[in-house]
Amino acid sequence: MDYGLLMENAKEASKNSYSKYSKFAVGACVLAGSGKMYRGCNVENSSYGLTICAERCAIFKAISEGEREINAVAIYSPNQDNCAPCGACRQVIYEFAPNGEAVVVTEKNNELILNDIKTLLPEGFLL
Ligand code: THU
Repeated sequence: MDYGLLMENAKEASKNSYSKYSKFAVGACVLAGSGKMYRGCNVENSSYGLTICAERCAIFKAISEGEREINAVAIYSPNQDNCAPCGACRQVIYEFAPNGEAVVVTEKNNELILNDIKTLLPEGFLL
């Protein structure tokens, strides 16, 4: 997989971020089992706790289109280098990672950083 392309899509997605309260824009792009990519951005709300992160937005788009595996997730914020997924998003990635092996892609100093989800979330919960 071209993780650079996945990151370019995460950057594009961050432009649609609805983050009027935090002013912290995030974009994500997932590579799903079919080979298709799905983009997402954070969507905030006046009732702050209803906010959804970019990663879960992208994953739920993929799953709701029939995907069942997430092989990679790229995350980008113009506000922060190496913007890594929050704990809740790590658990959601883990749910759909085949053998806990989805690749999490971030960017630091214009270089891609690759991490396995099971490294970022040791002993993730599964039923
Ligand atoms: N956010 C994400 O979209 N993904 C993360 O992994 C971390 C946080 C969003 C949620 C909120 O809209 C803003 O960043 C500040 O927390």
